[in-house]
Amino acid sequence: MKEHWDLQYAQDGFAYGEAPNDFLAEVVGQLPPGRALFLAEGEGRNAVFLAGRGWEVTAMDLSEVGLGKARELAARRGTRLSTVQGDLATFELGNAQWDVMVAIWCHLPSALRREVNRRIVEALRPGGMFVMEAYTPEQLTYRTGGPPNADMLPTLAALRTELAPLRFLQAEEKVREIHEGRLHNGMSAVVQVLAVK
Ligand SMILES: C[S@@+](CC[C@H](N)C(=O)[O-])C[C@H]1O[C@@H](n2cnc3c(N)ncnc32)[C@H](O)[C@@H]1O
Repeated sequence: MKEHWDLQYAQDGFAYGEAPNDFLAEVVGQLPPGRALFLAEGEGRNAVFLAGRGWEVTAMDLSEVGLGKARELAARRGTRLSTVQGDLATFELGNAQWDVMVAIWCHLPSALRREVNRRIVEALRPGGMFVMEAYTPEQLTYRTGGPPNADMLPTLAALRTELAPLRFLQAEEKVREIHEGRLHNGMSAVVQVLAVK
């Protein structure tokens, strides 16, 4: 898996572009200031976006190649970013310490996703917010991005259960047009969540 992502990110250009994810850009005005942790953040476009708006940002990912490009993008934009290579199977998210946590297209096997979601709830400070967008199982009929594996595609119902202690402020399954770099293009079935602890 790590080799797969290192190879993707070793190609020229940014796999998902340099602009932030649409949903993150839509909700950024609602997020509390402070420290933000980005999970599975790849080449860093979303992390750099928040860093440029005053958050103290850490981006983690499996791929050191991706994180190298995240640091390059941050430098080009004149922002600061901490990066940490790690696997969410073992990565320490901490306890009540993040004001914002973000997971954009962080598709994990469902057993690991349930475990990581439990740890996200722990790791947010009271009042902290979680932002996520993921493809749903319906995306398998669109094939415009995301893993071709239903087990890695969450429904909103599953997320409501897994993240239950959080209060959902915005939560929606929808079909929307996506254009992000060379890997996400076209009509897509997604779930978006903005939740607070
Ligand atoms: C679709 S990309 C999304 C990248 C970034 N969030 C974005 O929106 O541009 C998925 C990312 O998940 C990372 N990833 C997959 N499994 C992971 C794991 N177990 N731990 C940490 N990162 C993982 C990959 O390295 C890859 O960068």
